[in-house]
Amino acid sequence: MSSIKVIGGGELKGEIKIQGSKNAALPIIAATVLNQGVTILKNCPRILDVFHMISVLEELGSVAKWEGNTLIIDTTEISSTKVSEGSVQKMRSSILFLGALLGRNHEVSIAYPGGCSIGKRPIDYHLDSIKRMNVNQEFLGEDKEIIHCYTDKIIGSDIFLKFPSVGATQNVILTAVLAEGITRIYNAAREPEVVELCNFLVEAGARICGRGTAFIEIEGVKKLNDVEYSLSSDRIVAGTYMAAVASTKGDVVLKDPPLHQIDSIIRVLDKIGCKIKTGNDYLRIRCDKRLLPYKNLKTQPYPGFPTDMQSQLMTVLSLSDGKSIIVEEIFESRFQNVKELRKMGAKITVDESERKAVILGVKNLEGAVVKAHDLRAGAALVIAGLGALGTTIIKDTTSIERGYEDICRDLSNIGANIRYCSENIL
Ligand code: EPZ
Repeated sequence: MSSIKVIGGGELKGEIKIQGSKNAALPIIAATVLNQGVTILKNCPRILDVFHMISVLEELGSVAKWEGNTLIIDTTEISSTKVSEGSVQKMRSSILFLGALLGRNHEVSIAYPGGCSIGKRPIDYHLDSIKRMNVNQEFLGEDKEIIHCYTDKIIGSDIFLKFPSVGATQNVILTAVLAEGITRIYNAAREPEVVELCNFLVEAGARICGRGTAFIEIEGVKKLNDVEYSLSSDRIVAGTYMAAVASTKGDVVLKDPPLHQIDSIIRVLDKIGCKIKTGNDYLRIRCDKRLLPYKNLKTQPYPGFPTDMQSQLMTVLSLSDGKSIIVEEIFESRFQNVKELRKMGAKITVDESERKAVILGVKNLEGAVVKAHDLRAGAALVIAGLGALGTTIIKDTTSIERGYEDICRDLSNIGANIRYCSENIL
């Protein structure tokens, strides 16, 4: 297990280039299975979750290679329709191979993805929707843990999502692209990562309209073609580094942030006192004084404030001058970081029944030994270490490497005193 050591108190200054989007890369890597050919994916982040999706592709018989941040995938050969239990348990985004393999082979066997520290994360919306498309489903294995879907023909259908689930929307799109007829998704997710998946598929020859809205229509086509596609930058990584500046005071320029995807993050940080200026390919954020609290911050589906930025904002508000409230509307247990921030002197109380955290800002956080419970919580602890007095050791930071190419490289490039260290260093 790796750890990160942060010596807090410094100001952040300089320029950071934002990596490609993890949550756009993952569904698009699954989508390459729909084309029997070659996909070139540019600006692809070299992160654990992407490496994992590549290992699933290779397990299926495909070939992938890197050239810098360009990923070249050849899915001409797919010799299996089985995604192993180990693969799905290791990373739940493997579930997107459900729709992709079904779309290509009309059959797939895949294990139920486990929950994780932020919630149970069921896939009922995925399965209920795909069943409506003339797809048979059976549950195999001792604990019925293997989902076996098969059909002689996928038929486009009207799909009504109870909740605008990102993954369910993506899995239905993947199933519908080569189906017969038209699939209409009502209450579809509007996240930029759904838009990017649609952009990629349309470039490959799919017929999709309504991307970015709550109503998406897909007309099935016979086949897709080879594509060269460049991923947009990662909105959550951009937001994370903005939160790092907000916690330490500083003056930083983000290069190539996905400006049209981070309105809600900009709005919140602006409201608590950050000075933010944007241009066509940059965002400059400056903080030179203690920030204000935020009265009531609710996480919501896009374009609302993203749940993946909740932990990072909790850190920022822990240092603000007053009382803030955060309500987590998306996941049922995404306040794991509270106990870690309390070790650093944060004053936070949680009402789990209302998924509400009340934060009383303190003047300083104190360095401590803390533990990363998930990807975004780990990033939020790095931010806390930057804003704290003294030394912070963040343990179990492998989860951070799932989504951040090199958080130590990026932050030390703007003056942070941060490095990876071995587990037992104090
Ligand atoms: C995606 O997860 C993201 N992951 C998550 O980012 C993100 O937090 C989430 O969307 C919400 O924006 C990727 O894109 C790889 P959902 P996903 O289906 O698709 C419930 C990160 O840090 N639900 O929109 O799994 C579910 O339990 C990760 O990068 C059902 O009940 O999210 C949750 O409460 C963390 N049944 C809510 O809906 C279902 O069938 C939203 O889930 C599906 C979802």
